[in-house]
Amino acid sequence: MSKGTSNIKKLINPEKIPRHIAIIMDGNGRWAKKKFMPRTMGHRAGMTSLKKVVMAASELKIPILTVFAFSTENWKRPEEEVSYLMNLLVEYLNKELEELHQNNIKIQMLGNNQNLPNNCSLEIDKAIAKTANNKGMVFNIALNYGARDEILSAVKTLYGKIQTKEIMLEDINEKLFSSYLSTSGMVDPDLLIRTAGEKRISNFLLWQIAYSELWFTKVLWPDFTEGDLWKAIYDYQQRDRRFGGLSLK
Ligand code: FPP
Repeated sequence: MSKGTSNIKKLINPEKIPRHIAIIMDGNGRWAKKKFMPRTMGHRAGMTSLKKVVMAASELKIPILTVFAFSTENWKRPEEEVSYLMNLLVEYLNKELEELHQNNIKIQMLGNNQNLPNNCSLEIDKAIAKTANNKGMVFNIALNYGARDEILSAVKTLYGKIQTKEIMLEDINEKLFSSYLSTSGMVDPDLLIRTAGEKRISNFLLWQIAYSELWFTKVLWPDFTEGDLWKAIYDYQQRDRRFGGLSLK
């Protein structure tokens, strides 16, 4: 870590830590291509970045960290890459679970848990159960996740409840609707980070990021370090958030 980035860490205001950070970890493929390696090696290097960033976020006492590990659209990739990614998650949970648990981190999954390979579901269930009572950082792994899918399933569930008169149409408001999403009970992301230079949301947390601060970097995910996380947080802390109102400054 360079002297510059450790200085940034010192500038972070502990009173204004984002309550929820969401990350679109992009650029694994490009990182591998640049090094004349197969794409899968980019994902493996991405796993190493993830390990570091999770620990750095937990150390900073970020209450919630959500990472986009696999989207509902990622099934379109070659079968070999899909299965590599699924196995990488199994490997990650297998190797890191003890340390995550020791750090009081609570693991949760966002997304549709159907259609996942059996070994993946088993490892996920194990990680969720083991860390269920932890009170430190909530670590959401979005897997087979798509925001439109999430919103549609909330609409369908609510429609069913309206039909059985468990819920009245007049009762539906933003708070109630949010409680039918996979992030139910969680504060919305204060900060959304996307790596690798793309400036798009790619069907991630569409409802929840209505007022999130967006932070984009050209750094490819496998090159992303704790220092980049600190930079993003420091930058977020300089912003004037108005939520549609007027500046309080
Ligand atoms: C985007 O890079 C990344 C993904 C689709 C998967 C994210 C996965 C990891 C960071 C690996 C570790 C994750 C876990 C949960 C163990 P890309 O392949 O779209 O990159 P490109 O746009 O450069 O091709």
